[in-house]
Amino acid sequence: MVVLPLMPYILGLDVSTTASKALLLRHDGKVAGTASAPHDHSMPHPLWSEQDPQDWWHATQTCIQDVLAASGTHPAWVVGVSLTGQMHGLVMLGKGGIVLRPAMLWNDGRSTAQCDRIRALIGLERLVKITGNDAFAGFTAPKVLWVRDHEPDVYRQVHQILLPKDYIRYCLSGTYATDKAGAGGTLLLDLAERDWSKEIIERLEIPLRWLPPTYEGTAVTGTVTRPAAEATGLVAGTPIFAGAGDQAAQAVGVGAVTPQTWALTLGTSGVVFAPCAQPRTAHQGRAHAFPHAVPRLWHIMGVMLSAAGSLAWYRDTVADGQNYNSIFSLANGVAPGSEGLVFLPYLTGERTPHADPHATGSFVGLTRRHTYAHLTRAVLEGVAFGLKDNLTFLQEAGLPPPVELRLSGGGAKSEVWRQILADVLGVDLIPANVTEGAALGAAIAASVGLRWWPDVSAACQSIVRTGEPTRPGANQIRYQALHSRFASLYQHLKPYFAATHP
Ligand code: XUL
Repeated sequence: MVVLPLMPYILGLDVSTTASKALLLRHDGKVAGTASAPHDHSMPHPLWSEQDPQDWWHATQTCIQDVLAASGTHPAWVVGVSLTGQMHGLVMLGKGGIVLRPAMLWNDGRSTAQCDRIRALIGLERLVKITGNDAFAGFTAPKVLWVRDHEPDVYRQVHQILLPKDYIRYCLSGTYATDKAGAGGTLLLDLAERDWSKEIIERLEIPLRWLPPTYEGTAVTGTVTRPAAEATGLVAGTPIFAGAGDQAAQAVGVGAVTPQTWALTLGTSGVVFAPCAQPRTAHQGRAHAFPHAVPRLWHIMGVMLSAAGSLAWYRDTVADGQNYNSIFSLANGVAPGSEGLVFLPYLTGERTPHADPHATGSFVGLTRRHTYAHLTRAVLEGVAFGLKDNLTFLQEAGLPPPVELRLSGGGAKSEVWRQILADVLGVDLIPANVTEGAALGAAIAASVGLRWWPDVSAACQSIVRTGEPTRPGANQIRYQALHSRFASLYQHLKPYFAATHP
């Protein structure tokens, strides 16, 4: 006998780079539980970044089962599932949904030649006018062309192309679909129309039938199938909502759903996200312009590729797996500026503002005086400087300045890093009290689709909670000078990066 729900729940699923995550949102706006299961990641050649879509599906099954069990939630109480995940990744499926090759991820930098070809074929001005964006190596369309150029046998078998979270949608519902925000990151979307651009798709000679239909984040795209119900423990027939690409979903999860509130995310990638009331472009498409997860809203965004990802690398290699708390307290013991040591966080190239897949990570200014603690602080500072580049880039785009900057992401949990960030950026940072912001944002989109709230803004007002701001302190002035030195280093090293790329 099924126990009737005291309170219905929505399950938000996030197919992130590091893990699949599940979050249960209760009808009263409280989060009833979260779970996660890690993913492997492979970089088989310089510039390549890949994952096996089957790993996402196995991890998703695990975390759905775990979150239901740990929170004591009966599957029948789940009235909707919503999806978010890493953007831009290319999943290629053959007939019958067979995965043809490993997914090429958002931080994969192999397709520079294809980006050049896209610009030559369409013209940068026309490309930006239609899609809102220049061609970046991490985006989906150049990856499709790379497979056509380098793996013709794979290309011949393609039946469908999907973004990572939409592969999980396919596993759950047997249907091909995507959300508008995620679709924006393929370089194949007409930004103003919020749907595929036939012109771009024809010019690139990519069959339109390979692309799934696009939906607003609050819309239903299918229901849980019987085999997926058996695999996950969910109930067959449960509706699945579109949700959104992770950055738009994260923005919803922290309440950045009006042009007055921007989001700053210190996750694997580092993001500055500005909602806009109209479709607009910036810096000739070098700042990303995509639809928001909210109907009739768009956003402009700067993305650095290795933010907390830089610290994860540092922890796994230099720090030999030491726990993050000791890493942060070590950094706290060093004075701002790390005694002249600078870290450039370009471990997987850089997207915004440099658009340079060949940039590499660097420590500059090492001396015998420097210790392990200096290296550690330099990494935190280098990431903060990269985020400042992105914030400045967006501020220079002529957008109305934000009233509030909401901070989230794994790295934002560290008090030391938060303070470095506030000092470097020179702005108040309002922490959003959320652990899985993107999964929460996806669930919020579904809650509006289910009419729990009249619109996304009302839902965020009821659900999203913020904490005490972190304000810039006495080190702000010093960090301004240090940031100029950081910024000049990229310019000096650029010819070296260009000459030495693999
Ligand atoms: C956004 C982007 C990254 C990934 C990471 O443009 O590339 O934030 O979505 O998950």
